Amino acid sequence: MQNQTFLDACWQRPTDYTPVWYMRQAGRYQPEYRKIREKYSLLEICRIPEVCAEVTKLPVSQLGVDAAILFSDISVPIGAMGRNFDIQENVGPVMEHPIRTETDIAQLQVFDPREALPYVLDTIMMLKADLEVPLIGFAGAPFTLASYMVEGGPSRDYIQTKQMMWKTPALWNSLMDKLTTMTVKYLRAQIEAGASAVQLFDSWVGALSPADYRKYVLPVMKRIFTELKDLQVPTIYFGVGTGELLQDFTETGAHVIGVDWRVPLSEARKRIGLDHAIQGNLDPAAALTSGAVTEEKTKQIIDAGIEHPGHIFNLGHGVLRSTPVENLQRLTALVHEYSAKVKSEVKR
Ligand code: CP3
Repeated sequence: MQNQTFLDACWQRPTDYTPVWYMRQAGRYQPEYRKIREKYSLLEICRIPEVCAEVTKLPVSQLGVDAAILFSDISVPIGAMGRNFDIQENVGPVMEHPIRTETDIAQLQVFDPREALPYVLDTIMMLKADLEVPLIGFAGAPFTLASYMVEGGPSRDYIQTKQMMWKTPALWNSLMDKLTTMTVKYLRAQIEAGASAVQLFDSWVGALSPADYRKYVLPVMKRIFTELKDLQVPTIYFGVGTGELLQDFTETGAHVIGVDWRVPLSEARKRIGLDHAIQGNLDPAAALTSGAVTEEKTKQIIDAGIEHPGHIFNLGHGVLRSTPVENLQRLTALVHEYSAKVKSEVKR
């Protein structure tokens, strides 16, 4: 029997406790992961289903979380579209050549995931057979992927991306259109292989004003979530620094909205309304220490989340590298125990 608590919370059904998982729950904070990385590069792990499945499962047994997230990277489909890139230590995905021209965009291939990324789907099928919690598939959202492709790598100010968006909107739209078509195909394939939910990481979209978000990004996000709807799995949409965009996020059609730590969860609930589940939002830095301060912040988030059905506890962004494993073990237990206690008191 699979633990359904995470999926129930996504659908805003009542649960006995608040489910929890962590963005970047598989990674360098784990000694076991670092050991595997001595032997394989990140992209090699992604390409070997046995190893990739092992890395995906590790945090589930180690931390006791209520969901697994496929181990991969948002940059993986960029290679399948025909562009060379590398994931550099402490930097992130870096392109061999940035994507700037009409020709660059025309050459991008909208691939068949079964042909171009069979190992991703094989990993999912392998995991499906023995996971005791639901598996979350994922992809980078078009803006965030485009930011890596157009800038050529990580960026602080997204100058090239914004220039393309504002100065050559036709070019921007053709890039977004291709990335959107690719993303829908990729996520549909992940769900068909066995993913029980999918998350769209729009990590850097908080760099946009609400007006630009609505004009240049919202229409493609609507398309993605609309085109996934018939598969009837919960969809999650997350970005960093997106407090001012939360209301717009509710128009995308995502079932669950991810919130970073800059907005108190009770305020996020006001902006999002009652028709969506909420995921978040402990400051990842608060997991570096444990004790009274972390506990108080965690309880505040749980209390705010419990007021309405549909809260999934998470960090406001990925687990930081220097996080001690036992802090996340303790945090997971605290979320489970404290939320179960509050919920049983409310019922009485
Ligand atoms: O456990 C999980 O969450 C699944 C694995 C996962 C990775 N990347 C593995 C990874 C997920 C969900 C991602 C998504 C991802 N990748 C995002 C969206 C989430 C976010 O954090 O905002 C982004 C923006 C990327 C791009 C990327 N890849 C960055 C910024 C980095 C970090 C660079 C560094 O060295 O600090 C990567 C590399 C990466 N992807 C690592 C992991 C575990 C760490 C480096 C390694 O193991 O070599």
